[in-house]
Amino acid sequence: EKAGYDHFMLKEIYEQPKAYRDTMLGRINTESLTVSLPELKLTKEKIAAIRKVHIVACGTAYHAGLVGKTVIETSARIPVEVEVASEYRYRSPLITPETLVIVVSQSGETADTLAALREAKKHGAHVLAITNVVGSSVAREADSVMLTLAGPEIAVASTKAYSSQLIAFFLLGVYLAETLSTQEQAWTKSIVAAMLSLPEQVESILENTDALRTYAESIAEHEHLFFIGRGVDYAVAQEGSLKLKEISYIHSEAYAAGELKHGTLALIEDGIPVIALATQNALLEKTVSNIKEVKARGGEIFGISDVNEVKALGKAVDEVFGIPATNALLTPALSVVPLQIISYYASLARGNDVDKPRNLAKSVTVE
Ligand code: F6R
Repeated sequence: EKAGYDHFMLKEIYEQPKAYRDTMLGRINTESLTVSLPELKLTKEKIAAIRKVHIVACGTAYHAGLVGKTVIETSARIPVEVEVASEYRYRSPLITPETLVIVVSQSGETADTLAALREAKKHGAHVLAITNVVGSSVAREADSVMLTLAGPEIAVASTKAYSSQLIAFFLLGVYLAETLSTQEQAWTKSIVAAMLSLPEQVESILENTDALRTYAESIAEHEHLFFIGRGVDYAVAQEGSLKLKEISYIHSEAYAAGELKHGTLALIEDGIPVIALATQNALLEKTVSNIKEVKARGGEIFGISDVNEVKALGKAVDEVFGIPATNALLTPALSVVPLQIISYYASLARGNDVDKPRNLAKSVTVE
């Protein structure tokens, strides 16, 4: 059932190109480069009446929501808040009938997420569920359901479900922009065209993971590690950090690159590994200056950037991994893949049970 892979996690990482294709299939018109999402069950008038969006989820799904915020705010120009479900439900959030509440859950059974959904419905919001499981509690109770078609995810550490949630947010962002005309058609079409290349681009990353494996084995002896990035790179850094902690048990923290000097820089000492995401070309110069701050304190930096920027970054870091070039908004769907691979091999090198990390369950049905 592992189809020749040593672990479910590795199998699921390699299933991402298919998960992307399946999640886009039937929703993208490949000729007109437009998106249709009848499952939203929202008329144009209803969409135009949305004043704000709340994205509510736990763990990895919350991290997908952080990317979703940037995607929706950029494409639809609607303000978005993202919150972990266990906080959201207990602080009387300001929900009105003009709020679109998006709950994100792979399993559709997470107790905190389900409770947040019920709270939102009580206040008259339209609740959209992004979930991977047909007929799950979240799917049954939401007003509309957008399925990620990642297929069953067995490993406790979420990989293909997370990245398919990103695809769902890209589709949603484009659809909202088309409906509200908040962006030029050329803009939405260029996003859709770039989305169609993502499956092949993931395949190309997965073709040769030797450098990632070697790097993972080198960090396996460390107890602390940092991830840094700006914009959506910061969101992906948080997911990479969770994944690493979850299965390798190495302590790590993700920081917005510009925030390091406000305290955390004190923890950077000789030989501390730092993974720097620098896929946002418009922010590259700023991120490079943050990388130099780390380097000056002895940090050992592994950079991840778009192939075109590898040279520019290469001088500032100790090692660099290039991901294929794509639209700046879509980079998370590629940049998360090397982080998943690094976590996998770091866990393996430490002799851990990759698919069943200690103290965790696949579906968390207690609050
Ligand atoms: C991490 C992980 C968890 C889940 C979280 C929410 O790899 O899997 O953080 O993302 O427990 O689960 P779902 O998405 O099923 O609601």
